[in-house]
Amino acid sequence: MEKGMMEKNLTIRPEGKKDYMAIRRLIQDAFDPMPFSTGKEWQLVESIRASKGYINELALVAELGGKMVGHVLVSEIALDGKTSMIPVLILSPVSVSPEFQREGIGQKLCQRAIEEARKTDYPVMIVIGDPRYYQRFGFRPAFPEGVYLPFGFEEEYLQMMKLEENALEKVSGAIQFPPWFFDARGELL
Ligand SMILES: CC(C)(COP(=O)(O)OP(=O)(O)OC[C@H]1O[C@@H](n2cnc3c(N)ncnc32)[C@H](O)[C@@H]1OP(=O)(O)O)[C@@H](O)C(=O)NCCC(=O)NCCS
Repeated sequence: MEKGMMEKNLTIRPEGKKDYMAIRRLIQDAFDPMPFSTGKEWQLVESIRASKGYINELALVAELGGKMVGHVLVSEIALDGKTSMIPVLILSPVSVSPEFQREGIGQKLCQRAIEEARKTDYPVMIVIGDPRYYQRFGFRPAFPEGVYLPFGFEEEYLQMMKLEENALEKVSGAIQFPPWFFDARGELL
């Protein structure tokens, strides 16, 4: 579809119960070709959805002429700030149907999620992903700000964005993945 048309017809809205099966398929289709995929991204979404970290206003679907073409989930996670736990947001995952990728849908979904996140009281949003993609939205390396991962990932993939002024003074510590980020075998989803 020609780009101007696509932009006119793209609607972004919070997900609802009737969308759940289509979202599962969309996430599977989007991640299936990715070499880094765990194959469990859809399970992460469903696990977060059933948890107290879920925020419906920050779980968005993109539709094009009534067809679901994209999904993004932003939810609550915490930093272990030593003296207290600091609630923050995490953007994960974002999915666009393979046949609609590279048309700006992922960008629009992320931008809307960020806009909605700024309406909340959370100081920052983090993301674990390719800096070449996420920097365009204003995400920057988190490690230099004292925010890090407790295990396993390369630090360059951990990025963070301020949602309010002076946010960086308020946050530091290791990311505490809550129980709903793990499968029954204790592996990260
Ligand atoms: C990543 C994804 C959500 C991007 O959505 P999209 O609608 O295709 O992206 P947009 O059209 O908004 O942006 C396209 C730009 O992103 C870049 N891009 C897309 N995927 C990228 C990736 N994995 N790493 C780096 N850059 C990427 C493209 O090169 C393009 O850049 P350009 O405009 O400078 O050429 C989508 O490709 C997707 O669902 N991928 C499979 C699932 C995935 O990898 N999710 C992200 C990890 S959580």
